[in-house]
Amino acid sequence: MAKFHERVFSGVQPTGNLHLGNYLGAITKFVALQKSYECIYCVVDLHAITVPQAPRELEANTREVTAAFIASGVDPVRHIIFNQSQVSEHAELGWIFNCVARVGWLNRMTQFKEKAGKDRENASVGLYSYPTLMAADILVYRATHVPVGDDQKQHLELSRDIAQKFNNDFAESISRRGFGDGYFPLPEPLIQGPATRVMSLRDGAKKMSKSDPSDYSRLNLSDDADAIAQKVRKAKTDPEPLPSEEAGLEKRPEAQNLVGIYAALAETTVAAVLGQFGNANFSTFKTALVDLAVARLGPICTEMKRLQGDQKYLDDVLKDGADRARVIAAANMRDIKGILGFIR
Ligand code: AMP
Ligand code: TRP
Repeated sequence: MAKFHERVFSGVQPTGNLHLGNYLGAITKFVALQKSYECIYCVVDLHAITVPQAPRELEANTREVTAAFIASGVDPVRHIIFNQSQVSEHAELGWIFNCVARVGWLNRMTQFKEKAGKDRENASVGLYSYPTLMAADILVYRATHVPVGDDQKQHLELSRDIAQKFNNDFAESISRRGFGDGYFPLPEPLIQGPATRVMSLRDGAKKMSKSDPSDYSRLNLSDDADAIAQKVRKAKTDPEPLPSEEAGLEKRPEAQNLVGIYAALAETTVAAVLGQFGNANFSTFKTALVDLAVARLGPICTEMKRLQGDQKYLDDVLKDGADRARVIAAANMRDIKGILGFIR
């Protein structure tokens, strides 16, 4: 396989209620990767409309995600932040990938099954083909590394399958144009650390999610200190004290979740947290968790609100990011059209 220029790409949907799972599973990784890579972070509005969105809320939610990226430490000058619909190459390559991916591949996607629920006949066609657009998001920049939470693993595997099939199907045309033995890299998922799957505070078997009807199930990035304290205190636990070894967390999903959250917020390991809190009861541990969560999330919440008050700044960031992203995407799209045999 040819050597590719290393580049990070990831996306977050502007669907409201940004929460601790988004922050620990994705956004903190986005921040850390800036040191070693050229990074592109996208507010994926074309993905959001796979389910109905009220236009005014979509605008507000797009600015909220933008503000969350910046408040958390993503640098929109050295790296790129933009919203997907401003770079039409995403949708264009998405169509091409609809013709590369197989129906059988999409039929295996568990997220579609969950999101479409029982009334599958009534789901949008976009919700079904969503993973081909996600592959296009990544591959239109020929990105090599993709930080995401655990729930996106299957979609990343599909992106790799699409890249591989395109490289195989057009191998002759790719090599004739001087791109060696593959035009697209096989993008690598970066799913690491103690909080790749943050669970609901009300039910340790359910993922923390934007769409859970109970606000007590999640810590929102917009929650103030009082809300954080209330939600952590009410979080479901079991009657036992915390174990001192990791093995003792097995079959205790709520305890495992809270310890994982603590470890991620403190930037340490689960083992180290249990070293400190082993044999402590939950009320002691929860008090420490509230203090830590408020210390970490409080400043982000404040900065997000400040940025959200400056709509012009946020819209300028998105436009400037889109202008820079488009330069990369357009050059690649030109290659891709040549490879396919489209006259340019
Ligand atoms: P979404 O809100 O679905 O656009 O997700 C944005 C990013 O957050 C993706 O990388 C997801 O994998 C990640 N994410 C969403 N929910 C969670 C969760 N409960 N735990 C960890 N990561 C999550
Ligand atoms: N599907 C992702 C989610 O729901 C969001 C997303 C869209 C994405 N395009 C992407 C993530 C490309 C990583 C890379 O969370």
